[in-house]
Amino acid sequence: MYYIGIDLGTSAVKLLLVDVNGTILNTVTKEYPLSFPHPGWSEQAPEDWYTQTVSGLKELLKGFDASKVRGIGCGGQMHGLVILDENDNVIREAILWNDGRTDKEVEYLNNEIGEDKISEYTANIAFAGFTAPKLLWVRNNEPENFARISKIMLPKDYINYRLTGVHSCDYSDASGMLLLDVKNRKWSEEMLEICNVSEEQLPRLFESYEVIGTLKKEMAEELGLSENVIVVAGAGDNAAAAIGTGTVGDGNCNISLGTSGTIFISSDEFKDNKNNAIHNFAHADGQYHLMGCMLSAASCNKWLCDEILQTKDYNAEQKDITDDKLGNNNVYFLPYLMGERSPINDTDARGMFIGLSMDTSRSDIVQSVLEGVGFAIRDSFEVARSLGIKITTSKICGGGARSKLWRKMIANILNIDLEIPQSEEGPGYGGAMLAMVADKAYESVEDCCGKLIQTREVVRPDKDIAERYEKQYQKYREIYPTVKQLYKTLRK
Ligand code: XUL
Repeated sequence: MYYIGIDLGTSAVKLLLVDVNGTILNTVTKEYPLSFPHPGWSEQAPEDWYTQTVSGLKELLKGFDASKVRGIGCGGQMHGLVILDENDNVIREAILWNDGRTDKEVEYLNNEIGEDKISEYTANIAFAGFTAPKLLWVRNNEPENFARISKIMLPKDYINYRLTGVHSCDYSDASGMLLLDVKNRKWSEEMLEICNVSEEQLPRLFESYEVIGTLKKEMAEELGLSENVIVVAGAGDNAAAAIGTGTVGDGNCNISLGTSGTIFISSDEFKDNKNNAIHNFAHADGQYHLMGCMLSAASCNKWLCDEILQTKDYNAEQKDITDDKLGNNNVYFLPYLMGERSPINDTDARGMFIGLSMDTSRSDIVQSVLEGVGFAIRDSFEVARSLGIKITTSKICGGGARSKLWRKMIANILNIDLEIPQSEEGPGYGGAMLAMVADKAYESVEDCCGKLIQTREVVRPDKDIAERYEKQYQKYREIYPTVKQLYKTLRK
């Protein structure tokens, strides 16, 4: 029996063909463009996601017995606003999770309606990347588009809709819309009223491991799959990655070092999170989680290498960064290339190098970028600590986690053990696992994690390096508060 996992990411869709024992049989990656129509804006065409997913699925299945495929599960980039008209045509390009255009709308929600109320309705406060502020932005800036909205969807739900014809959403991804009453797992009437939308405009809610439908006839024919192939509701990519790394139960942690950087802490009950600097969302195993999300993580290194240093050889850039240099860098980098979400919630913040001198080398700069991302993850980690959550070990996944050096830096900056799972394909693997659970190949998500997830390697912090990083982090955390006010005046 085979299952397909889809990771609908920001730079590409990654597809996995997995057997029921969790062995990955094939993987395909298909890229698509990302556009930044104004500074701080970020958009993508849902049609690109669809065409690349379908073409990737065809490639994935080549040479395999497609009749063995039983189910499909998708983990997708969260929060993106996809709006469809009455004929289910896309009205405008999707506004993505790392888009910062909604500062006025966020201000309205958090300050005029008030953080207490928004938090009471949704268990969260407004952040620019969340879906509800984007809906308000469309209402305020593109009223003709707003008037045409028949369905509001998230990115992976659009793919699921094209595969099955069903408008669905799962609780983990819906949590990031700021339209869900997370605690009670239902749409918030108050939020719908604030955003001038009705429940009919929203998709039907499911648990991530529930079946939303089977492949449409024409879809099955095009892909060479059976019409009985089930499609599960799937999850937001972070919840799917947590499943794919076995981060379930109470107090377990996963760090994802992808385009965004997240720390994800699973919880077996809803926790009232009065400190709203990190998100309080539903998990894909039917429970809950807390999450801190930084908007630019591995993308900072990609930007430095691709755009500035003009190289694709990321490893070569890291080879001179030896252990004695860790925690000894005079250059610091604030990784706010797209503004920042957790914990500072500041759309005006921008990237910054500080501490450059005549003896600064190219590799010091590379090092500062990798470290800046690690320190920013530590910021969210500190918020979790302040809530009384004790983390001594975390899983790590995502493209950035392939760098041994970056893993070592993060283990030492956080001073915790990092477990590298056998499969690095967090969200796609988690998506396939959700389909296995829906197909009753495993009793529950937890059972599936227990049986399929294994740790390949553990990275432990080194006492000296961790001490040096502790000192550096204390300096790093002074930088943003000092320059915070300047960002507003620099903004065009
Ligand atoms: C999480 C978030 C990002 C995206 C990336 O809140 O916005 O991690 O899901 O795909």
